[in-house]
Amino acid sequence: MKLIRSIQALRREISRLRKNGKTIGFVPTMGALHEGHLSLIRRARRDTDQVVVSIFVNPTQFNQKKDLLGYPRRLRSDSVLCQKAGTAILFVPDARSIYPENFQTHVAVEQLGRRWEGQFRPGHFQGVATVVTKLFNLVEPTIAYFGQKDAQQARIIQQLAEDLNFDIRVKVLPTIREKSGLAMSSRNKRLSEKQKTGALVLVNALREAGRLVQLNEVRSSVILARVNRLIRSAGQVRSEYSAIVDPATLEPVSRVRTTALVLLAAWVGSVRLIDCGFIHTKRKN
Ligand code: PAF
Repeated sequence: MKLIRSIQALRREISRLRKNGKTIGFVPTMGALHEGHLSLIRRARRDTDQVVVSIFVNPTQFNQKKDLLGYPRRLRSDSVLCQKAGTAILFVPDARSIYPENFQTHVAVEQLGRRWEGQFRPGHFQGVATVVTKLFNLVEPTIAYFGQKDAQQARIIQQLAEDLNFDIRVKVLPTIREKSGLAMSSRNKRLSEKQKTGALVLVNALREAGRLVQLNEVRSSVILARVNRLIRSAGQVRSEYSAIVDPATLEPVSRVRTTALVLLAAWVGSVRLIDCGFIHTKRKN
């Protein structure tokens, strides 16, 4: 595995790969890798000739300085994990090379970025869309991989790839969960054991939503009332939003027709978690 820090060196490697007709799988990350990231890397390894992973804690997508400073950084162990998972190139740029002094261009995916995370974390998706656009330009991947847990982010990146005519396939792979059901996230490292147990209410709420739909309850208001009651019952968890949305537009739906997406965001102590899951109505034969 090659560890590359500069844009020029990355460009040289990418043009060599492309000259040799290699397909490139790309997994952008902010480090503190867990099984969710590794499953994306392994899948990229299976689908493409060479895998590029980036680790860049992108300052423009954090709306709180404290959150940016507290974000876990563990390059040494991350690079071991990347190598084991079959990464060919690990790209670790610094903030100055991604955002030089005179940087002034931003990418905004307006409609999809407006609600949910966009509402509670103003500027977040503009930061994500801008850095992903830059990384797509630098890595020129054949396929880029994202996790379903960040459902709104994944949808926004699909849209930006389409809108900006990137010749890149964006693959969104299922959320990887701990044995307990808790969605894997770099933020879980900041939870105590007790908080981890409390946070399970999120996956339980998703399961409850799925169960209600299977029992033919398709009214979003009724399902969300039950979801919110459940979350409230777990003392240490404070819901920020819960929503049932159309998976393509991310707009709220009043009734579940065939498939909908449940989005949850909540605070567990000082840690903000998000989770989501599809719910499906019973198939009519
Ligand atoms: O999901 C993440 O880790 C980040 O938002 C991403 C896509 C690497 C952009 O910084």
